[in-house]
Amino acid sequence: MTRASNDNVAMPDKRAVVEHNRRMWDRLAKAGIPYTRLVGTPPRTAAAKRRFLDPRGRYAGVDFAGARVLSLAGGGGWHPILFAELGADVTLVDISAAQCRTVRESARARGAAVRVVRGDMRDLSRFAQASFDVVDHQHSLVFVPDAARVIRGVGRVLAPGGTYLFSTMHPTTLRLYGTWTGTGWRPRTRYADERAIPYEDDLWEFGRTKVRAPTIEYGHRIETLVNACVKAGMVVDGLWEWSPGDGSAGEPGSDDELERWLPAFVEIRARKSAR
Ligand SMILES: C[S@@+](CC[C@H](N)C(=O)[O-])C[C@H]1O[C@@H](n2cnc3c(N)ncnc32)[C@H](O)[C@@H]1O
Repeated sequence: MTRASNDNVAMPDKRAVVEHNRRMWDRLAKAGIPYTRLVGTPPRTAAAKRRFLDPRGRYAGVDFAGARVLSLAGGGGWHPILFAELGADVTLVDISAAQCRTVRESARARGAAVRVVRGDMRDLSRFAQASFDVVDHQHSLVFVPDAARVIRGVGRVLAPGGTYLFSTMHPTTLRLYGTWTGTGWRPRTRYADERAIPYEDDLWEFGRTKVRAPTIEYGHRIETLVNACVKAGMVVDGLWEWSPGDGSAGEPGSDDELERWLPAFVEIRARKSAR
């Protein structure tokens, strides 16, 4: 993913950041970048669909049939649809109307039942306590300033024994994208500094698709994420740091090359304690 700029965006309050990013996601969806359309074709059998949904086996041992699944910020992707096709009772929450529409229309076309709710991941108050068995949350905490607030909400809606799986941009790598000096990478902010990451380049570029969308992004520290899970009554039982591909195609100093040295994503699995 090419990094986006926020240099020209005055740092507003948290609600304004979220509203700004909502508009950017509507714009990105209009441009049809990969995170806003259903990429690939899922296979037909249940076992193969499950592998398509969970290629790294993070949900090993979790039965989706009959499970109440919250697809958090899962608009524009296959996940909510595939959970439903695997027998789960699925609710999608996403802040972008365009991202919600993509899932609603595709689910309808495939005959999959997905409840679609347009909303902010930071406010799950519409859902009862312990009302989900699985919360699936990929690549989107980076767009909110207050990750701990989101995780607190997840801890409330997750049923005892339930699974929360989430991924976000790796906080170290996020601070280094686009900073190659010719001899090394220079962090944009200190690791301990959790304000938005300042970028100069607001272009999202995927092959021939290019769109200017200065999303405001936050590199939440790993200790923030793990401790928020613990505080929300969850036990972290898996943490992975990884990059897509092997980075071998990257030009020297490019973001692709950076992802060869450092992980693009951090992924965490937590279970709600049975108390
Ligand atoms: C990188 S996309 C990920 C989409 C999908 N989960 C996937 O993995 O393909 C980020 C998603 O987060 C959503 N999003 C951003 N801020 C949000 C917020 N505050 N509450 C809910 N959804 C949000 C965007 O609309 C977008 O659909």
